Amino acid sequence: MEANTLLSQLQLKKPIFLAGMAGGVTTPQLVASVCNEGGFGQIGAGYMTPESLARDIDEIRTLTEKPFGVNLFIPEHPEVKQEEIDQMNQILEPINEKLDCNSVNEVRIDDIFDQMIEVVINKDVEVVSFTFGKPTQELVQRLHKHHITVVGTGTNIDEVRELESVGVDAIVLQGCEAGGHSGSFEQSLPKERLTLDELFKEVYSKVSVPLIVAGGITTPEQAKDYIEQGATAVQLGTAFLTTVESGTPDVHKSLILKAKSDDIIFTNTFSGRYANGIKNEFIDYVGQFKDKVCAYPIQNILTQPLRGKAKKAQNPDFMSLWCGTHPEGARDETVAELMQRY
Ligand SMILES: Cc1cc2nc3c(=O)[nH]c(=O)nc-3n(C[C@H](O)[C@H](O)[C@H](O)COP(=O)(O)O)c2cc1C
Repeated sequence: MEANTLLSQLQLKKPIFLAGMAGGVTTPQLVASVCNEGGFGQIGAGYMTPESLARDIDEIRTLTEKPFGVNLFIPEHPEVKQEEIDQMNQILEPINEKLDCNSVNEVRIDDIFDQMIEVVINKDVEVVSFTFGKPTQELVQRLHKHHITVVGTGTNIDEVRELESVGVDAIVLQGCEAGGHSGSFEQSLPKERLTLDELFKEVYSKVSVPLIVAGGITTPEQAKDYIEQGATAVQLGTAFLTTVESGTPDVHKSLILKAKSDDIIFTNTFSGRYANGIKNEFIDYVGQFKDKVCAYPIQNILTQPLRGKAKKAQNPDFMSLWCGTHPEGARDETVAELMQRY
């Protein structure tokens, strides 16, 4: 697909994508406001159920007539080893006790991926983006049959080539500055972590699909620079986290607004997959037991109750405070104000 075709299909006035951020950030108001301001909104549906996704899609349709996207995780099925779960639960016990939380002793990995795809197709969503791996060629072809544009996420040239080989329409190039989980196909700590600049330089001349660049973009000048160099659009995550319309908890917003690059750490302690977030007591404590961290999504399931309790109590010590390595681009502002700046 040509870059201009993508931009006109998505009815973009500005080549700005809202990252599909899972975990309650991308409220219908946030997604719709980005679309109404001329950008491209996406629902972060990675942790949603088919019912909650369908509800949010319906609500967004009442708030905007513009196309929008849904971001999904490619499912992973690691072997569930009970002794590893028991070991991690022992490590988490003092935190669970402190927060008056029950541990999760039996882990069941529900696979609702196919149901999520059905929702997206039945609700005529215009774009589906994926992270944590590549969709199968059959899935891409099926989505194409329903006129859905398919976007993949790559963090190095090999992943980008694999995404191209299954026929995605566009690729999000994610640099290591990006907030939240790395979209890497692998769960382990990558040997080489490329900045967005390095990744873009390496990939640009080697691929034919439109590239959407993400990771550490903090100014309109930087965004313009990437577009001039040939990127089709830029994707912002951290900058949207602190907007009025975002569902980010207040305590998380205020910590992002105060954060410096040095406060950000790349950690797998919350979920088993590596992600950039603000350092806190949880990361320091569980980080001491690095080799005991369970695979994603098992670790995520084990820490889910305590993260939920901490979020409810607005206790930042045990929340996953996702944030990119350049929090300086985030402001306390509305989506309209952010989009006017860009
Ligand atoms: C809170 C948070 C949640 C995120 N969740 C997802 C997600 O569910 N799917 C995804 O593809 N990317 C996710 N990302 C990564 C973004 O897509 C994007 O690559 C990143 O935010 C860009 O870097 P920036 O944060 O420096 O702007 C998330 C980022 C943040 C900050």
